[in-house]
Amino acid sequence: MSILRNIALAATTTAIIGAGAAVAQDNFKFPLKARQGQMAIIAMNLGALGAMAKGEMEYDAAVAQAAADNLVAVSTIGQGALWPEGSDGEAIEGTTAKSTIWSDNADFLAKWGDFGKNATAMAAAAGGGLDSLRPAMGGLGGTCKACHDKFRIPKE
Ligand code: HEC
Repeated sequence: MSILRNIALAATTTAIIGAGAAVAQDNFKFPLKARQGQMAIIAMNLGALGAMAKGEMEYDAAVAQAAADNLVAVSTIGQGALWPEGSDGEAIEGTTAKSTIWSDNADFLAKWGDFGKNATAMAAAAGGGLDSLRPAMGGLGGTCKACHDKFRIPKE
């Protein structure tokens, strides 16, 4: 094979691989937006509860209850379609998801279930005053860390 043909072949191969990655990136556009969006909803509502617990925001039973109810609502969203295999941060751009999500999927889903259980406990506690809200914070916040530590690529 001539050198020129080799170069042409290499260029074509690179282009095909490049196009494949672009297609994968495009297929994953909505799952990425959806799962990162649900995390943003979670973070906003947890943030409000945390600020009240720390006394940085005035406690308001209705606001606390609404925040906890939102967390419960998000926890009921089926996660399957949001995490298509191959949409991890080692394979594509724009995500910090780790491939352990699929190699240890049962644990990933169990950790999502733990988040749901603790969100439900918070929903039972949040409207009952700060003394009721505060003890529910630790368990709930711990479910974020437990999942992120194992299933998220740490930021450098
Ligand atoms: C079962 C696993 C799991 C649980 C539970 C979980 N997360 Fe996440 N979270 C992830 C993964 C995986 C990512 C990376 C998603 C991506 O980049 O595609 C993420 C990303 C995020 C992000 C960044 C979103 C973005 O725009 O890049 C925030 C903020 C976040 N999580 C907050 C929370 C908070 C707050 C909690 C707990 C109340 C929580 N998460 C619970 C797995 C989880």
